[in-house]
Amino acid sequence: MKTIDELLAQGVEGKRVFVRADLNVPLDGSTITDDGRIRAVLPTIKALTGAGAKVVVASHLGRPKGAPDPAFTLRFAAARLGELLGAPVSFAGDTIGSEAHEAVNGLGSGQVAVLENLRFNPGETSKDDAERAEFASRLAALADVYVGDGFGAVHRKHASVYDLPRLLPQYAGYLIATEVGVLRKLTDDVKRPYVVVLGGAKVSDKLGVIDHLLERADRILIGGGMAYTFLKAQGHEVGISLLQEDQVPVCQEYLARATERGVEFVLPVDVLVSSEFPDLKTKAPAHPTTVSATAIPADQEGLDIGPETRKLYASKLADAATVFWNGPMGVFEHPDYAEGTKAVAQALVDSPAFTVVGGGDSAAAVRILGFDEKAFGHISTGGGASLEYLEGKTLPGLAALED
Ligand code: 3PG
Repeated sequence: MKTIDELLAQGVEGKRVFVRADLNVPLDGSTITDDGRIRAVLPTIKALTGAGAKVVVASHLGRPKGAPDPAFTLRFAAARLGELLGAPVSFAGDTIGSEAHEAVNGLGSGQVAVLENLRFNPGETSKDDAERAEFASRLAALADVYVGDGFGAVHRKHASVYDLPRLLPQYAGYLIATEVGVLRKLTDDVKRPYVVVLGGAKVSDKLGVIDHLLERADRILIGGGMAYTFLKAQGHEVGISLLQEDQVPVCQEYLARATERGVEFVLPVDVLVSSEFPDLKTKAPAHPTTVSATAIPADQEGLDIGPETRKLYASKLADAATVFWNGPMGVFEHPDYAEGTKAVAQALVDSPAFTVVGGGDSAAAVRILGFDEKAFGHISTGGGASLEYLEGKTLPGLAALED
C-alpha cells in the first residue's frame, strides 16, 4: 500500500487531491452529536493543504436511497470540518454536477471543498459494475490523485471506495494506515490473554467474527441484545428480550466449539429488565429490575447487563494483554441502562492491556459517556470494517489501495 507520505514526497502543490473520507457522523437535526470521524481525517487533510494541494473531500452519510435527501446532507459535517481546520471550507450541493465542478475549479492551493453525500447518486452503491464505473469516472474528472482515508467504508464495494482508486494514482491516508496497523496487532502475533467483548443488538451481525475469534481469542464476553440468543441457546427463557430464534442452532454450535477449543465463552449472569423499552428522547426514568439471566420473566425484556455481570466482566478483563471491544452492553443511550457499557469502558481504561474499541456504537458510547479517548489504545472509526477485517475478509477499499 503506498501511503500519503510517498505522495507528499513527490509534491502536491496545485494538484487536485480527492480524499475519500468517512464523515458518516451521527446527527440530531443539524447538530453533530459525535465528531470523532471528522477529527480522525484531519491529519491527512492538514498534511495535504500544508503541502499546497487542492483538497476535494467526499463521503457518504447514512443510507439515503440513491437520491438527494436533506436528512442526510453533508453540509453540517463540512461546516464542522471548517471549524476544526480553522479555515474556510467550501461546500458543493452535488457530487458530479455543476456545483462540484465550480467548487473544485474555485479551489486555490491549500484550500478544501466538500462534496455532497456520495450516496445521493445511485452509482455509488450500485451492484452493477458498469453503473458504478460510470459514476467513478465522473468523480475521477474532479481530481488528479486519490487518497483513501475513509476506513469506516473500506468494507463496501462502492464506486468511491473500490472503483475510483483504480482510475487515479492512489495512496492510503494516515487514518487508514493507522487503523490497519492496529488491526494487524490483533491478527498477527497477538499478545495473550486476548479477550474480546462483543455486544450490540443482533447476533447475526457478529457470527462471522465469532467464528473467526473462536480460533484466536482466549476469552469472549457477550453482552447487549445478542446475549439473549446465546442464553436461549443454553436453554433459558428470555421473555420478550431481543431474540433471533433462527440463530439459536449456530449459537449452540459456537458454544460447543468454544468448550472444545478451551475458549472461555462468558454470558451475563444477571440482567436489568423492564416490560417496556425506555423512552430515549425524554429519558424518563425506566425503573428496571435486576433478575438472574436464567430467570427472565415472560413479560420482561433484558436491556442491560446487571451488577454481578459488570463485576464478572471487569474481572475477566483485568488480566488481559490485548482487548478488542465492539458493541454496547445495553441501551446505553438511556441513563438507566448505561452502567453495563460504562463498566466495560472503565475496565478497559483501568487495564494495562493494549485496548481497541471497534468503531460504531461502542466508539460513540465511550465519547458520549464522557471517557477520555486517550485512555484507550485505539478507538477505531470503523464498526463493520474492523469486524470484517478481524474476520479475515478481503476488504474492497483496502484491496483497491494495494493494486
Ligand atoms: C459505518 O458507519 O460503519 C460506515 O460509515 C459505513 O456505513 P454503512 O454501514 O452505511 O456502509
